[in-house]
Amino acid sequence: MSAVPQPKISAERQAFYQKIDRANVTPLWEVLHTLVTPTPQTPCKPCLWKWAEMWPWIEESGRLITTREAERRVLVLENPGLRGRSSITHSLYAGLQLILPDEVAPAHRHSQSALRFILQGSGAYTAVDGEKVTMSVGDFVITPSWTFHDHGNPSNEPMVWMDGLDVPLVELLDAQFMEKGARETQRTDRTEGDNLAQFGNTMKPVEYRAKNRTSPLFWYPYDRTREALETLRRGHEAHACWGYKLQYTNPVTGGWAMPTIGTFMQLLPQGFKGKEYRSTDSTVYAVVEGRGRCLVGGESLAFGPKDVFVCPSWLPYRLEADEKVVLFSFSDRPVQQALDLWREAF
Ligand SMILES: [Fe+2]
Repeated sequence: MSAVPQPKISAERQAFYQKIDRANVTPLWEVLHTLVTPTPQTPCKPCLWKWAEMWPWIEESGRLITTREAERRVLVLENPGLRGRSSITHSLYAGLQLILPDEVAPAHRHSQSALRFILQGSGAYTAVDGEKVTMSVGDFVITPSWTFHDHGNPSNEPMVWMDGLDVPLVELLDAQFMEKGARETQRTDRTEGDNLAQFGNTMKPVEYRAKNRTSPLFWYPYDRTREALETLRRGHEAHACWGYKLQYTNPVTGGWAMPTIGTFMQLLPQGFKGKEYRSTDSTVYAVVEGRGRCLVGGESLAFGPKDVFVCPSWLPYRLEADEKVVLFSFSDRPVQQALDLWREAF
């Protein structure tokens, strides 16, 4: 068996391939070199979506279609190496969702887990499992798998957030289900902030028993995250590659907040010039504060607030900050670690 490309296929071999092809059989030796590669060969490419370019299109989409008509009014961020597949990385989906004042995005649930990361506006809510959360810029909100969720905007300004879902991963596993809610908006009988009170203070109700792997805390307000990073900055040395970086956790287990998507927030001090880093989890970054650049694949992605960029699997990259920068990021790291596949190098 040969693991290298075959330069020329003899007529005899060609006839053999055609014969077995009719029975849905194919020779491994013609494709082995593309299947089992020495290092990751992802189709995912580095890419930057600038808010200044996106915002007029988001506004335009708000004039073209209502949330009710669209169900979810989202502009999908498609990786240039994965066009037509609604994917920002090989395993993850990301989009920018707009909800205008007085609009409602109706209740539904699906197997895919979702995160919301708020980019613009405040006062819109998401309702998850009977509890409403009012969202502000920088907040990280989880919609666990198979949980009813609807969104509404009673405020008087448009609200935009980045959705991150494990759509391509669930599609690969053929494990998806979806259901619309009986009502447009679910009954919210739990007090707003209930999940934060129960699980957001390094405590938990004594009778609590987990039903699944997703964090029961589903709202991580930005002011708390920001304060933690600032306190770290004052008292610790910055890491040479990632500055000050915190991982969102499930407070009950100490593990990941979501079973399929790892989420992080990091602070780069002003003037930070990060060392080269790479890992096998292609990573999506959203800029909360500050300006800087990501040097990746021979490109310099100059980022500012609300921009989104992607660093593909195993491609070395460096982060630099002209001013103090705060970056949210997410990737499929929990899945890779659960399968003993994850690697990093720096
Ligand atoms: Fe949804």
